Amino acid sequence: MTWRKTAGALMAAVVLAAGCSGAMTEKMPEKKSLYDRLGGKPAIQAVVDDFVGNVAADGRINQRFAGANIPRLKTMLVDQICEATGGPCKYTGQSMKAVHAGMKITDAEFNALVEDLVKSLDKFKVPAQEKSELLSALGGMKGDIVNQ
Ligand code: HEM
Repeated sequence: MTWRKTAGALMAAVVLAAGCSGAMTEKMPEKKSLYDRLGGKPAIQAVVDDFVGNVAADGRINQRFAGANIPRLKTMLVDQICEATGGPCKYTGQSMKAVHAGMKITDAEFNALVEDLVKSLDKFKVPAQEKSELLSALGGMKGDIVNQ
């Protein structure tokens, strides 16, 4: 093969590869939202129901919820998780800062609540990837919830 031909073949290969990868990217299915991967609203409702039950039975934090409106709390949590994971819901509750203001929630209490949630996620066999994505979304709210 002459130098010209080799160069030409190489160029063609590069153009082909670029074209191919472009086509592949276009045809690649969109990654499903966390909401869909969790199983949508019914799955989120089931987890929240179980989770609030765990909190009610958790002596480390249940006194915090003694005067709480539990049905509202459940609805708000479902909408919040649904929206935060890319679902079609709209959270209409108070901001995390406003609702937890003045409660002086500690790190330990926050961790206890997350533990109660993890118990439910494990019970419903939510896979590690989805579990970690959900926990990091909620973890991002920590600064607005604790020590204020
Ligand atoms: C990631 C962590 C948390 C999330 C996502 C969260 C979310 C929420 C939501 C959505 C509400 C309802 C807001 C509304 O009614 O407008 C709420 C209320 C409340 N939260 Fe949290 N929360 C978290 C952590 C905690 C912790 C650690 C405690 C205490 C140990 C706590 C105690 C409460 C209480 C007492 C209420 C008020 C319930 C009522 O008065 O009806 N939260 N929270």
